[in-house]
Amino acid sequence: MEKLKQKKENIGSLFDNIAKYYDSLNHILSLNIDKYWRRKAVKMLDKKVLHLLDVATGTCDFAIEIIKQEKAEKITGIDLSNNMLEIGQKKINQQWLNERIHLQQEDCTQLTFEDNTFDAITCAFGVRNFNNLSKGLNEMFRVLKPKSKIIILEFSYPKNKVVRYFYDFYFTKILPLIGKFVSKDKQAYNYLPMSVKNFIWGEKFLEQMEKAGFKNTKYKTLTFGICTIYSAEKL
Ligand SMILES: C[S@@+](CC[C@H](N)C(=O)[O-])C[C@H]1O[C@@H](n2cnc3c(N)ncnc32)[C@H](O)[C@@H]1O
Repeated sequence: MEKLKQKKENIGSLFDNIAKYYDSLNHILSLNIDKYWRRKAVKMLDKKVLHLLDVATGTCDFAIEIIKQEKAEKITGIDLSNNMLEIGQKKINQQWLNERIHLQQEDCTQLTFEDNTFDAITCAFGVRNFNNLSKGLNEMFRVLKPKSKIIILEFSYPKNKVVRYFYDFYFTKILPLIGKFVSKDKQAYNYLPMSVKNFIWGEKFLEQMEKAGFKNTKYKTLTFGICTIYSAEKL
């Protein structure tokens, strides 16, 4: 637990170190299912909004999917890791999306935006990494406009024992090996299974969202519960 806490304190540099391998490893390690999870989560945004905040935007795959599905006119993407943002910026330039996606380096636990700024907020595979989850959720609540929606996509732990067996084997034995081989960073890909197993999911996560002030909290599991989409509103 102590190790996990230390890693979360240096999370920006952990992602800086693996940034150039992040996309390809994501797709290899998830057997490309991550793309399906992102598509599904974006579909949960029911209407097109004017200005959306994508928290922990990383290399921008989620933000780009939001634009593809025409769910936001304009997106501000924030992340702690500058190297992740640089890769995201290249994709934005290549796809001529500069007018629609703007990136800035920010810490979600102390955002610099005014209260009630955004018409929707999204966060894919980010909350698990926050060094202070309640501060991160409080900040997202603060900058979201009333009558607006938040969508969070995050790994979870499957309930079924047989699925759990295969999941544990894959996450603790196979995934760190591939991760280390490709990225040469042993630490980062040991961190992934550790951070997933020690993170809350389902009802417990909804409780945290409610503590931050969100209402109408719901969740939907994907792929045997390996991943979960959370949705809620600021009334
Ligand atoms: C697993 S990546 C997810 C990236 C992207 N959303 C995606 O779907 O691939 C997690 C990201 O969260 C960022 N992150 C972690 N803690 C953060 C914080 N407190 N504020 C902003 N970004 C943070 C990391 O730098 C990293 O880029």
